[in-house]
Amino acid sequence: MNPLALTRQHRELHCEQVALTAIAQAYGTPTYVYSRAAIEAAFASFASAAAGRGVLLCFAMKANSNLAILDLLARQGAGFDIVSGGELERVLAIGGNPARVVFSGVGKTHAEIRRALELGVKCFNVESSAELDRIDAIARSLGRRAPISIRVNPDVDAGTHPYISTGLRENKFGIAHDHARAVYAHAATLEGIEIVGIDCHIGSQIVETAPFLDALHRVLNLADALEADGIALRHLDLGGGLGIRYDTETPPDRGAFLTQLLDRVDQWRAVKPQRAGVEVIFEFGRALVAEAGLLLTRVEYLKDNGARHFAVVDAAMNDLMRPALYEAWHPVQTVIERTDRPPQLLDVVGPVCESGDWLARGRTLAVAEGDLLAIGCAGAYGMTMASNYNSRPRPAEILIDGAHMHVARPRESVQALFATEQTLPLI
Ligand code: LLP
Repeated sequence: MNPLALTRQHRELHCEQVALTAIAQAYGTPTYVYSRAAIEAAFASFASAAAGRGVLLCFAMKANSNLAILDLLARQGAGFDIVSGGELERVLAIGGNPARVVFSGVGKTHAEIRRALELGVKCFNVESSAELDRIDAIARSLGRRAPISIRVNPDVDAGTHPYISTGLRENKFGIAHDHARAVYAHAATLEGIEIVGIDCHIGSQIVETAPFLDALHRVLNLADALEADGIALRHLDLGGGLGIRYDTETPPDRGAFLTQLLDRVDQWRAVKPQRAGVEVIFEFGRALVAEAGLLLTRVEYLKDNGARHFAVVDAAMNDLMRPALYEAWHPVQTVIERTDRPPQLLDVVGPVCESGDWLARGRTLAVAEGDLLAIGCAGAYGMTMASNYNSRPRPAEILIDGAHMHVARPRESVQALFATEQTLPLI
């Protein structure tokens, strides 16, 4: 966790200046808690290294799409990487500029493409020839030209979890590197298409710089080949994917990471005058918000089945899906340190009727029934992946700003879960 977001003061965990116990008291549990300062600091760590270097930092909002957070990042100068029409509407809802939006995703629908064209997004990151033809047809029907990049699959191994690795040939993402040149050549013949860039994204939670440099190398080679084919690019989109420290990972320093990539781009830019203005886009999600958020939960029961000890908490896999889906490790701390009982080895599990419903396994914690726990590094892919499984309303989201608790989203009500459902009328 970012120390701006979480510190222990007098045995008690605080987010910025607010005690987590006060948040639980005011808004209940489970609750997502985010720190404004930590989000802004994360953005600034990239932005300061990118300043004056022809970079647009887009936030991949799939990591956390709460409007309060999007608004904070937009005010800092972020653009957005979106993957659905729903995410596009979120940009509009905060008064964001579609001209700073890149539209990624492997399955864009007709309606999504049309809406994005009408609003004037910066670029469609195209993932297949079929999608290219669809975008061309829709653009022509609107009397427009659609700005596109081809997402190339550079076939590099990002060394991350197989579910979140996307840059290998076997993945469904992008267009194979050796096929991309032909797709660009085809794109250049389409009246409704304007080629503006090249795009790649090799995976997520990558904690080494080398795979990014490999991918960049391959992207630049392709850009050279396209240049030889008479296709000039206006931007290089290098995707997102930079990882964070959940446990013992040691991701590179953000500024140093960005500088290394941008230095390589500068070498390439320096070769020909027409490359000087080529912009670099990044689509970071996790690295901007993960360490700024936590999930606050309360221990309902302590349970001992002989072989294992459990803390059954009021958060579950529906609230934070990462452990169940990826066996992801999140740090867990007791909100108030206890000295009146010994720590014990236990699993932190939720109330959902599935063995996969665990949040942390094999942790050593001194806890009692009723205690609060903070599940750290939950600001990315936490709430955005939450569901209503077991008819559980999704958590509240509280954005901490200094000493102020801002309700970024109130807890969902049970009634809201089925408000639009209808029983079959009796005949
Ligand atoms: N751009 C594209 C095209 C993407 O597919 C992704 C993430 C990103 C950017 C942002 O990646 P980031 O900087 O956040 O690593 N739910 C998983 C992560 C899935 C990532 C999917 N794509 C998790 O909880 O670990």
